[in-house]
Amino acid sequence: MLMALEPLRAVLLMGAGPEIQVRFMANTILIGAQWGDEGKGKIIDVITTEHQWVVRYQGGNNAGHTVEIGDQRYVLHLLPSGILREGCSCVIGNGVVVDPAALKKEIDEVEAQGISTKDRLFVSDRAHVIMPYHRLIDEYREGRAAIKDKIGTTKRGIGPTYADKAARVGLRMGDLIDASFPNQLRKRIHENNRILEALNAPTLDAEEVLEQYQAWATSLQPYIVDTVTLLNEADRKGESILFEGAQGVMLDIDFGTYPFVTSSNATAGGACTGSGVPPHRIERVIGVVKAYTTRVGEGPFPTELHDATGMELAKVGNEFGSTTGRPRRCGWFDAVVARYSAVVNGIDFWALTKMDVLDNQPVIRIAVAYECAGRTYRDMPASVGVLEACRPVYEEMPGWMTPTTHIQRFEDLPEPARAYLTRLEEITGVRVGIVSVGPQRDSTFIIEDVYATRS
Ligand code: GDP
Ligand code: IMO
Ligand code: MG
Repeated sequence: MLMALEPLRAVLLMGAGPEIQVRFMANTILIGAQWGDEGKGKIIDVITTEHQWVVRYQGGNNAGHTVEIGDQRYVLHLLPSGILREGCSCVIGNGVVVDPAALKKEIDEVEAQGISTKDRLFVSDRAHVIMPYHRLIDEYREGRAAIKDKIGTTKRGIGPTYADKAARVGLRMGDLIDASFPNQLRKRIHENNRILEALNAPTLDAEEVLEQYQAWATSLQPYIVDTVTLLNEADRKGESILFEGAQGVMLDIDFGTYPFVTSSNATAGGACTGSGVPPHRIERVIGVVKAYTTRVGEGPFPTELHDATGMELAKVGNEFGSTTGRPRRCGWFDAVVARYSAVVNGIDFWALTKMDVLDNQPVIRIAVAYECAGRTYRDMPASVGVLEACRPVYEEMPGWMTPTTHIQRFEDLPEPARAYLTRLEEITGVRVGIVSVGPQRDSTFIIEDVYATRS
């Protein structure tokens, strides 16, 4: 059906695997379907061979997307993961909040590694700028909050920047290179110094900040463009776009475990508002899930393990935050979360990652529902209070107790591993189209019949 609708996008890919594969270069959204860090960066890197454009549409440098290629390990915070594939153009969309210092640093780092960003990295003139007062407000608010109210933010200024955007007092990348910037900035600093004083935070010298930001503006100017026109023109020419979600559904400002969330729409809907590409131009949504669950920062996590198994998952999975280095909390796969994710995002298939981390588990558990105060929840409750009090209802399956990292086909997985994937498909109502069995590019396989069709 896609072939008929999109003749331009049908492509015959050779050499991508042992057999010749017909693929569809559909405009695709890829989102994290849990609490972030599902392995989005790695999966994007694998599938960018089929896309000319990769677009970040929300979040900022709170994200950390890891890509391992050979013995090189890249952790990208603001740059779309497509930057590592030559020939792929990358956009930081209007929905992203940009810290110019962080962006400049990341550009310099990849350039030093021989990766050119010239004429292939574009930053929206509508993207909001993270200012030093945003970072300070984030840090001091977190620092002063009572333990139970701490969100565990990355302290990158993300929340206060989105708050200013909604309050219509934000500064955008387009403003940064506009003649009106000095006066706009002075006004904002004057006002924010009052807030910083109230938080017992250091206040800012407007002229010092101005000098810094003008220097970044000069070096970033060539990247700042109207990305809405750019992307829609690319789409009209039949070039295909991959939208790279940051964070995950449960950290989404509307659908996550509010208030323990980030401040943007990490769900599929955010791709349209965060890029200016309309919904009817998007043909496919891929949800990335880990074979278990992790969370970094505070907030409810029903399947969290506080025992030796949790510690082992953290150790084998190397579960430390890519941005802050904080240890990630670990637990079993939560099918309530995954089903909810599938509904909210319209997920066509799962990319299931870190299957290999379960290789040594004799018994594997899947949460199929929650119980709280005598009530069973099969759908995600909105209340953080309920989530904190609930107990997961588990199903158990035998583990496979054998390494899987070398495996390249579903049929070659050990029988209990195939049964686990099949059970996850049944419980979530969504097929698995990509399986990742290690951090490297080639520790990945695609289940062709699922990948090439829409459910
Ligand atoms: P992202 O934020 O969703 O891009 O994920 P992160 O990069 O923050 O965290 C995922 C981590 O898991 C990274 O260190 C990846 O290199 C690693 N990873 C991704 N897929 C796999 C996999 O299938 N197996 C293992 N063992 N590690 C993986
Ligand atoms: P990627 O894209 C995991 C979490 C923080 C905190 C909450 C709010 O790598 O999956 P913020 O700084 O955004 O205001 O913090 O959100 N968080 C993430 N957790 N992965 C991420 O990104 C995250 N980005 C933010 O830990 O709990
Ligand atoms: Mg991450």
